[in-house]
Amino acid sequence: MLNFKDKDLCVEQVKFIDIAKKYGTSVYVYSQNKIIENFEKYKRALPVNKGMICFACKTNSNFSILKLLSNLGAGADTTSGGEIFRCLRANFVPSKIVYAGVGKTFQEIEYALKSKIFMFNVESFEELEAINKIAQKLKVKARISFRINPYVDPDTHSYIVTGKKGTKFGIPYEDAISAYLLAKKKKNIIISGIHSHIGSQILEVAPFKLAAQKIKKIVEQVEKQGINIEYINCGGGLGIEYKNNQKVPLVKNLMSEIFSVFDKDKKFIFEPGRSIVGAAGYLLTKVIYRKKSGEKSFLITDAGMNDLIRPTLYGAYHDIIPIKKTLAKKVKSDVVGPVCESGDFLGRDRMLPILPQGEHLVVKCAGAYGAAMSSSYNSRPLLAEVLVSKNKTFLIRKRASYNDLVTNEC
Ligand code: LLP
Repeated sequence: MLNFKDKDLCVEQVKFIDIAKKYGTSVYVYSQNKIIENFEKYKRALPVNKGMICFACKTNSNFSILKLLSNLGAGADTTSGGEIFRCLRANFVPSKIVYAGVGKTFQEIEYALKSKIFMFNVESFEELEAINKIAQKLKVKARISFRINPYVDPDTHSYIVTGKKGTKFGIPYEDAISAYLLAKKKKNIIISGIHSHIGSQILEVAPFKLAAQKIKKIVEQVEKQGINIEYINCGGGLGIEYKNNQKVPLVKNLMSEIFSVFDKDKKFIFEPGRSIVGAAGYLLTKVIYRKKSGEKSFLITDAGMNDLIRPTLYGAYHDIIPIKKTLAKKVKSDVVGPVCESGDFLGRDRMLPILPQGEHLVVKCAGAYGAAMSSSYNSRPLLAEVLVSKNKTFLIRKRASYNDLVTNEC
């Protein structure tokens, strides 16, 4: 959705420079049509009445983006009471909300049950006990899947591998059958499915398929015990193209490979997040100062690690480009923020044109785990967020004020 109008970089039909003038910087900018296009790829690949696409709202939980996706018929993958609250507020129907997480508190379980969400993805034996007990107290039944750790180790950053032996996630593979047998005895539990999630930013179909094959083995054994598994929840979606040369498999190929593993009567849940909003979002920032230190050139921007933590937390690469075409000579530069840490960078050793002070840059692929992971570190107010649709812009979160920084302090 990026394109040029004369020399100005645009998202859909709007120039970034006009967004900067109207809303100030730094600011998160999203392309509505790109989000729709990305979601539709998953929706189209899932036959009617064969399950649901539950947007992983941890990637971006802005009300307007959630509302956009709920209007398109998405369900929601949640990971806390707060996310359930946000999703209900954004009109997701409770019967399309699933809830994973290793540390669901008793209050969160009660809130989820009272909200009548569709399913818990249960991650430990003790959690099963807690859900059963709370459901009993509320005189309701809780529908569950077990999140099974399939012991698959995909090629991605170690912090975002979840399906490898030894991580905190899910029920260990060898304990899966006993978990189902225990759940079968619980009066307030309805067993409905099986869940697995191997990690995020995965660019191959093979590890997803391997996990599906391992899950299939559990399904067969569980069904032999007279327990019906209706839903296969395959966890998150594909990774995205952070670097120009990265190849991303087609969504329809991922899904059809997974369908091929299971019997025809199964229904499926997919929980994509990054691949829906990641490449649809940009962090627009201004170069406040330039300086040289030794051999290094620095572009100091008004966005910092508190606004986009991925580069420093995961060593993640985000492409950074000027919003104006220029013939200026390129020099190797570090793009850094104002935060008092040497780890505060958006990109290092980038070949960027020598820009005038006050010029703007766009950090690409910032729509997933960007604003959602931002903080007010160094007492920097949270940024504004703007949604673009064709030639229109909508403010979908106001920039926080200094007063917002202290409102809850007493
Ligand atoms: N379902 C579950 C149970 C998950 O844990 C996740 C992500 C997803 C779905 C969505 O996965 P996706 O489609 O986005 O790959 N903050 C890190 C990523 C953490 C991923 C956590 N789980 C980052 O910025 O790379």
